[in-house]
Amino acid sequence: MDGNIIAPTALLSRYYIPMSLPEIDLVVYPDECDAFGHLNQAAFLSLFERARWEMLLRGPGMDVFSRAGTWPALRKTVIDYRAAAFPGDVLRFSQALTHHGRTSFTMRQTARRVRDDTLIASAEFVFVCIDREGRPIAIPPQFSEYMHSRQESSGGLQRFMVHGVNLAVEVRGDGPAILFVHGYPLNHTIWEDQINSLEGYRRIAPDLRGMGKSDAPDLGYGMNIYAADLAALVDALGLDDVVLCGLSMGGYVAFEFLRHWRSRVRGLVLVDTRAEADTPDARRARDAAAVTARERGAGAIAESMISKMLSPESQKDPDMVERVQAMMAATPVAGIVGALSAMRDRESSEALLPTLAGLPTLVIVGEDDTLTSPDHARAMAHAIPGAQLVVIPEAAHLTPLERPAQTTKVLREFLTGL
Ligand code: MLT
Repeated sequence: MDGNIIAPTALLSRYYIPMSLPEIDLVVYPDECDAFGHLNQAAFLSLFERARWEMLLRGPGMDVFSRAGTWPALRKTVIDYRAAAFPGDVLRFSQALTHHGRTSFTMRQTARRVRDDTLIASAEFVFVCIDREGRPIAIPPQFSEYMHSRQESSGGLQRFMVHGVNLAVEVRGDGPAILFVHGYPLNHTIWEDQINSLEGYRRIAPDLRGMGKSDAPDLGYGMNIYAADLAALVDALGLDDVVLCGLSMGGYVAFEFLRHWRSRVRGLVLVDTRAEADTPDARRARDAAAVTARERGAGAIAESMISKMLSPESQKDPDMVERVQAMMAATPVAGIVGALSAMRDRESSEALLPTLAGLPTLVIVGEDDTLTSPDHARAMAHAIPGAQLVVIPEAAHLTPLERPAQTTKVLREFLTGL
């Protein structure tokens, strides 16, 4: 990918995922723990490894690689240790394939304590398949087929292969289409209430590349690429046009989509977002955040962002805090670093706003949003001829999730008026 817009229909295929990868339960033994009784880090690595082999044992067989004359050599590991585990704890390991190339693949694994569902650790493992001489060779097809056919799925989650990247997409209902685009470093579930509630509409909510359950390639991120992925998705679903609804970075992607595919947008909803490009200071902060993500993992990014995501009122709800934190901490590091560079390099959309005359537009902002403030939202709504502005109380940067009922109501009224 060279930064040019890629043809939306290129390399596009679609398949439904009927089953899920098996979850593996493993017990922590005393000899795996340190003098203070915590599961030690070396033993953690071997538990993650055992969970992977157990998964293969229940699928294509532990010899799926050796049968093909190859070996999956581990090239890189990033682990977020989130909580201590002790002898006798039963840990449940879930696994997902987040990137699948010709010779390399990335697996994301999480370990949760079964007793209280605490997230103990999440990790990313990058493998390259090599032959006996250590040369990279193709991933055995039996392994790829198994992983693709058993990728985790729930509800209406479907998989779409777009520009060589496997996107996870929630598709629900029938009627005029709404395309929901989440922010950073999040996933489509921030729209849960809107997806569940807006009957009479076709609700489409992808995980952008690098986030949620979509593939997270090491390279290939940019607003133009996210937007081209969405255009390909709209094509794959056979849709003429959509109401485009983007939150924060999802709004930046929406602006890019409008620059190239304006005729495919029937209505626009901008939530907790802004039109300006990054300032020089903000660009430097993106680079610093990328270093943090690479060195300390997604957990450190989640830690640093949680208080800005949620309003003081929302932070009184421990379930919401835990949910948003876990969502951010589970984002692949490659996706975080990619999104940071895409946001850093995005162009200003201020000049685009007046050209949106005639496009029904709703701007929603949380009253307590400090990342993209109500002042920004007001200025943006003012610059788009005819745009409507709604400020939602007791919400900050994740309005649809923090105040789901109010957001859905406002959205429904807007959609009804189209
Ligand atoms: C987001 O929520 O998508 C980000 O906070 C946007 C940004 O950092 O500019």
